[in-house]
Amino acid sequence: MEAIKQNMDEEQQIPKGTELRLVQVKGTWTRQRVSSHGHNGRVSAANIYESTSSHGTSWTVVSPITFTFTITQTHDLLNPSNDTLLMGHIRDPKQLEDFRSSTKPIKRFVVMDETVYSLYGSQVTDYLEARNVLYRILPLPTTEENKSMDMVLKILDEVHRFGIERRTEPIIGIGGGVCLDIVGLAASLYRRRTPYIRVPTTLLSYIDASVGAKTGVNFANCKNKLGTYIAPVAVFLDRAFIQTVPRRHISNGLAEMLKMALMKHRCLFELLETKGRFLLDSKFQSTEDPIGKCADPASVSTQLAIETMLEELAPNLWEDDLDRLVDFGHLISPELEMKVLPCLLHGEAVNIDMSFMVYVSCERGMLTEVEKLRIIHCMLRLELPVWHQDCNFALLQKALSERLQHSGGLLRMPLPTGLGRAEIFNDISNDTLYKAYEKWCDDLSTGTELGFPNISQHKNDSKSVE
Ligand SMILES: NC(=O)c1ccc[n+]([C@@H]2O[C@H](COP(=O)([O-])OP(=O)(O)OC[C@H]3O[C@@H](n4cnc5c(N)ncnc54)[C@H](O)[C@@H]3O)[C@@H](O)[C@H]2O)c1
Repeated sequence: MEAIKQNMDEEQQIPKGTELRLVQVKGTWTRQRVSSHGHNGRVSAANIYESTSSHGTSWTVVSPITFTFTITQTHDLLNPSNDTLLMGHIRDPKQLEDFRSSTKPIKRFVVMDETVYSLYGSQVTDYLEARNVLYRILPLPTTEENKSMDMVLKILDEVHRFGIERRTEPIIGIGGGVCLDIVGLAASLYRRRTPYIRVPTTLLSYIDASVGAKTGVNFANCKNKLGTYIAPVAVFLDRAFIQTVPRRHISNGLAEMLKMALMKHRCLFELLETKGRFLLDSKFQSTEDPIGKCADPASVSTQLAIETMLEELAPNLWEDDLDRLVDFGHLISPELEMKVLPCLLHGEAVNIDMSFMVYVSCERGMLTEVEKLRIIHCMLRLELPVWHQDCNFALLQKALSERLQHSGGLLRMPLPTGLGRAEIFNDISNDTLYKAYEKWCDDLSTGTELGFPNISQHKNDSKSVE
């Protein structure tokens, strides 16, 4: 216990001094020496360390902040008999009981991606009407190009006009990752932190953008340069929304699922290898696997993707630890995605980055040729691009050096060390990168050598969205 505390003190660089606990008696907080025995009252998890140095007297506050949020996989979210959308964020049974018995009308501000509004707006309206909610729905063109502070301010302006009670009336975002990132940022700014709920409607946002605490918008031509780490109060997942998502965007989400599979879960990789095309064709709507007579691949794969993602994100919500397996595919892709915007979707850029990194792993002797080919074939079957003409060696180096600047001078590269296994490396030489790059281009820029018949289709940078 003592050793843990000492490490914590070293990590947080708390000056040696007097440690004071905070105790509340009849509404008043007071400091008490930790060494003093006995206290009556409520003790805070926060401490104050008082010390004196040549700078003067200092008080260092160590105040743990806890985020509690629930991710719920549900069905029929927009069925008025399902109260998840309005009450699913209330965890305390007493609060829930009070909420149910209250006569005060429920008030909700809802932001929807414009396309999602055209598809599901009437269902959302019917739901809110049927539940007698006082509501305002704001449909917005939440595209990657519009993912800016202007959009955040537009939401804030409307929220302010509508008026919400900050603690009990969460803002609801319904849409893809772009919409949810923008709504999350707006909510985290409004009155410094207003609770918000995420309802993801794309595969990518279902398994990735919704699961963690990050919000953000693009700024100065850089991806997600402005943002916060404020978790939603709840995330409600309903796979039914995915049935209207264009095929290309399902592939896009599959890239993030493949990332988790390659980093952490061999069975998930094998599931994507064998059932990935079926998932793409059925848009994750199946209830059973028609071929294998095993558990429904749509629910198994989404559940595994969320669980593996949560294992990595929950202990590191603020990304203080820079050794992150979830960064696989995210070292080069931000630079590439912004360079060719709007030609590549987020998951597509991530996949091109992963495809290159698979070659780096192979060059380093951590993946066999057979494993490398299995991965690239799987990517192609998921209809994901594996190479891009703008992803040249100069861009790779620029992206990696940019990354180096933001990671404390040590480039941490998550790389597969087998199928469903990975480690973080900081010693990949420029020589290895270059050799991998040459092979990557030789194999994949034309696609013919490895027998990848669809490769030319994937290397274009201007695929149209269905
Ligand atoms: N916060 C995070 O942790 C996190 C993680 C990963 C990605 N992201 C962000 O997510 C964004 C990508 O998310 P995305 O791929 O969902 O993109 P998106 O939000 O742009 O949605 C993709 C397209 O699908 C449409 N759409 C959404 N739902 C639909 C539905 N049910 N039916 C038909 N069309 C639908 C949208 O209008 C849009 O045209 C990126 O900006 C990325 O930075 C954030």
